[in-house]
Amino acid sequence: MITTIEKNVFEGEGLARFEGQTVFIKGVIEGEVVEFSIIKKYKNYTKAKLEKIITKSPHRITPKCPLSNCCGGCDFGFIDYDYQAKIKENIIKEIFQNFENVNFLPFIKSPLVYNYRAKTQYPATDTKNSKRVILGYYKEKTHDIINIKYCPIQPEIVDKIIEFIRNNWIFGCYHEKEHKGLLRHVNIRISTTNNDILLTLVLNSKTKPDIKNFTSRIISEFPQIKGVFVNLNPDKTNKITGDKTYLIQGVDYIIQNLGKFRYKLGGNSFFQVNPHCAELLFENAKKLIKNKGNLLDLYGGSGVIGIFMSDSVDKICLVEENEESIALAKENYKLNNIDNFEIINSKAKECIQKFEKEKIMFENIIIDPPRKGADEETLSGISKLTKNIIYISCNPMTLRRDSLFLIQKGFKLKSVQGADMFPNTHHIECIAHFEAGENA
Ligand SMILES: C[S@@+](CC[C@H](N)C(=O)[O-])C[C@H]1O[C@@H](n2cnc3c(N)ncnc32)[C@H](O)[C@@H]1O
Repeated sequence: MITTIEKNVFEGEGLARFEGQTVFIKGVIEGEVVEFSIIKKYKNYTKAKLEKIITKSPHRITPKCPLSNCCGGCDFGFIDYDYQAKIKENIIKEIFQNFENVNFLPFIKSPLVYNYRAKTQYPATDTKNSKRVILGYYKEKTHDIINIKYCPIQPEIVDKIIEFIRNNWIFGCYHEKEHKGLLRHVNIRISTTNNDILLTLVLNSKTKPDIKNFTSRIISEFPQIKGVFVNLNPDKTNKITGDKTYLIQGVDYIIQNLGKFRYKLGGNSFFQVNPHCAELLFENAKKLIKNKGNLLDLYGGSGVIGIFMSDSVDKICLVEENEESIALAKENYKLNNIDNFEIINSKAKECIQKFEKEKIMFENIIIDPPRKGADEETLSGISKLTKNIIYISCNPMTLRRDSLFLIQKGFKLKSVQGADMFPNTHHIECIAHFEAGENA
């Protein structure tokens, strides 16, 4: 069967038509003529597999990653970068095409296309007989780990540290099915400001094992590693980290600069994975702040966004549920000599309901929820607390859903701007700006 790819859509797949059916095919570029086979027919669409490219797009390139076919992480790595950005910009326009009078602001490209990823989390296992350590991402839609020796989107030193662990870890690795073996995950966080690194070894253990010999050797081999943690995760769970983390050697934070601001990064707290692009994203979000006044930084993490906006507002209130992030946020405010702030450790919904009762209003609210977006109670609450909402989202579909809800509550979607926080993947970050009132 042969078809022409009409366009790339949300989650990167190509959309085509064939005999009246909508067909989705991975690994293709709009305009390409391809031969395909059917994977599965659903009621309204068909999932298909690319068999052969008949007419190749001029934007098709050879991926830098030798494992691109089995890893699946960089599912846009075969498209030249300018065209990746164009596809993402068009996807955003399409998702928001039915919203009235929305201004699509210029797409923000990432300053780095490769080596940008400041956080790596590799699951670990080892071979049954020879006990060779395997570290890498899961093969798409499986729990089989691909042994990744080179990943072009992360800094090269990360590959080297992983290789050192592969060759020197002698305490055994985890086997998910049997729930046995020690090393479950290796998490590496790197500051793009000074290349300092924090390493976390996630272990299937209830007690802290003695691995000081290993940690001393890895630090002496890589002096950029400023701290090594052990996280204990003895449960049979898909969660990467458990509740207990111990610093084994070195310091418990490193510093990342964004613009003129400085941030402490912890081993496992949230921080944008592409700091180069995050800075551009936040600069653009800052342009949407109105009338100085109070800013609510909802889903505020370790305070990154609020602090970045601190020279454009009078006072900041951060709300965040994660305790480790809250502790870092306090330190980040101190580090940047900002006094006029309040930090609230709470779930967004509960805190917003309290603000509603107490009639606490904000000139500006920035929300930056996880991929699933915000719940209706939270959105309904914030719609009563401000006239200016800046929504930062890593999932344009949940942003669309939440935008429709805010519009029902009397807001207008003024602008949407895409940003490429995740080059070579289909993922898209967005800033959406909402205003309430007659003159919005
Ligand atoms: C996408 S991150 C954004 C963090 C921060 N704005 C930043 O840029 O570093 C989402 C944050 O929301 C927090 N979070 C998730 N659900 C929450 C909830 N219901 N209430 C409060 N915070 C929540 C997470 O712990 C995480 O720190």
